[in-house]
Amino acid sequence: MDRVLDHERLERLLEAGRGLLADLDLGLVLDRLLELARELTGARYAALGILDERRTELEQFLTVGVDEETHRAIGDLPRGRGILGILIEDPEPLRLHEVGAHPRSYGFPPGHPEMRTFLGVPILIRGEAWGNLYLTEKAGGEDFDEADEASVVVLADWAALAIEHARLYEAVDARRKELERAVRGFEATATIARAVGGETDLDRVLELIVKRGRALVEARSVLILLREDDELRVASAAGHVMDREPARLPVAGSLVGAALERQHTTLVGDVERDLALVPEQLGVPDASAALLVPLVFRGRALGLLIAFDRLSGAGSFTRDDEQLLQAFAASAATAVANAQAVEAERLRHSLRAAEEERRRWARELHDETLQGLGGLRVLLRGAGRRTDPEQMRAALGEAAQQVTREIDSLRAIITDLRPAALDELGLGPALDSLLQRTASAHGLEVRSSVELPGRRLAPELETVVYRVVQEALTNVAKHAQASTVAVGLHVANERLRIRVADDGVGIATDTPSEGFGLVGMRERVALAGGDLEIARGEPGTIVSATLPLAYAEYGNLTSPA
Ligand SMILES: Nc1ncnc2c1ncn2[C@@H]1O[C@H](COP(=O)(O)OP(=O)(O)OP(=O)(O)O)[C@@H](O)[C@H]1O
Ligand SMILES: [Mg+2]
Repeated sequence: MDRVLDHERLERLLEAGRGLLADLDLGLVLDRLLELARELTGARYAALGILDERRTELEQFLTVGVDEETHRAIGDLPRGRGILGILIEDPEPLRLHEVGAHPRSYGFPPGHPEMRTFLGVPILIRGEAWGNLYLTEKAGGEDFDEADEASVVVLADWAALAIEHARLYEAVDARRKELERAVRGFEATATIARAVGGETDLDRVLELIVKRGRALVEARSVLILLREDDELRVASAAGHVMDREPARLPVAGSLVGAALERQHTTLVGDVERDLALVPEQLGVPDASAALLVPLVFRGRALGLLIAFDRLSGAGSFTRDDEQLLQAFAASAATAVANAQAVEAERLRHSLRAAEEERRRWARELHDETLQGLGGLRVLLRGAGRRTDPEQMRAALGEAAQQVTREIDSLRAIITDLRPAALDELGLGPALDSLLQRTASAHGLEVRSSVELPGRRLAPELETVVYRVVQEALTNVAKHAQASTVAVGLHVANERLRIRVADDGVGIATDTPSEGFGLVGMRERVALAGGDLEIARGEPGTIVSATLPLAYAEYGNLTSPA
């Protein structure tokens, strides 16, 4: 080669190789290759034909030197017949003085620029034909010479390396992107699992899902629709959504409903057109693109997660987003199913606790008041039959006493149902009277240390506190066989701490036989956003609860007060 290539050409070839290898983008490598081939040989036109997989035809044909207009005039690009076909069949360099004179020549199509001198060099990648470089019309009408051929052969070798390099990089890049996608999908799943954690409050879980989902696919808004019988109801929303009554859609006869039934992820370019739905109906008035992903748990579609309008890019979602949101929806569905189950269980529990409470009052009224009133009736009937005024007076006096007892007993029951003192006097005095009553009724020594804030607490919170102390004391009286009980109430860090400790036999913590008293206590404390702990003391039992003073945040107490 050093015989045909002078020093300057060699320098330029080395430079060319360096340039080619520096690029990792295949398109750029090929453009540069054509320019270099033209520069090195002084050709007016340069072209690159890339073979198809079977290596029988050209799949791509890139050119330099031919302008747009000429390209259009020529029409179809060559597929590799005629002269170009020779290089395909026999990948060896080919130099011609006059293309048109070769027996295999077809002639040029109309509008094709005039081309006479020709140099064709194959590009082999790992010994296999990959494509051909074609150069025509050397400057000054000269023929391409041996040095041109040698330069282009070297260039073709460089090109083979650079192409291979770029292709490898592309493959690695694709693989990296694929991995990145997988990692993001995994992260999406982990995110929701972490965010939801032990959270079992359904509304909170739904809120986390729409917010995280929205961030994940960068959507303008995200809705969660949950199935309720024959309808889909918007259960939570994040982003740009109208503040209004949650929308409802029938499952049957709506395309959104169909996506739910078929459990199909649906990518939609135009909500109004593709879902036959005015976006306003869902509270997302300007939505156009949408991605609908069903929330499937154990084969059952609980609802749909719908993302509207991607914030970056063209606004529509990609297959990537689809995969990502699907991975996310799978774990979101589990979280929703969990929270729904807990909610149903909570409701069942609180209904049972309420039912039990009612039964207790019925029993109390039956055993105490009804018995008493029955006795009174007997007494009064008897008195009515008396003729001796002295005896009658005695009987009536006894009846009056009985009535007084019944009034007391009814008052006690009513106080238990809703301590009037709570409403009239507030928590402190109501508790005082409760402690006094407990002490005198059960012969217990009650030690108390009650420090409440100066202001009144939320009425619901006062009820919770009263009920917790009341049930704890009732339990001490019923089960503990204690002689002393200490009751403490204190406020620290905006939380109210309650502690009821007795010196009795101690609760069996290993086999907790929870009656409705403890269930109700837990229920009330949980609804107030607090914590309850029941532990063995040394001796006895310690019931402690902490309740946030800001009760209003936790909504209304639903169990009977
Ligand atoms: N202070 C205590 N000392 C010893 N055992 C207790 C104490 N408090 C509760 N227990 C035990 O825990 C059980 C559950 O209490 P819980 O208040 O839930 O039900 P209960 O008092 O038996 O019935 P209910 O409160 O529904 O009338 C009790 O049956 C009792 O065995
Ligand atoms: Mg009890």
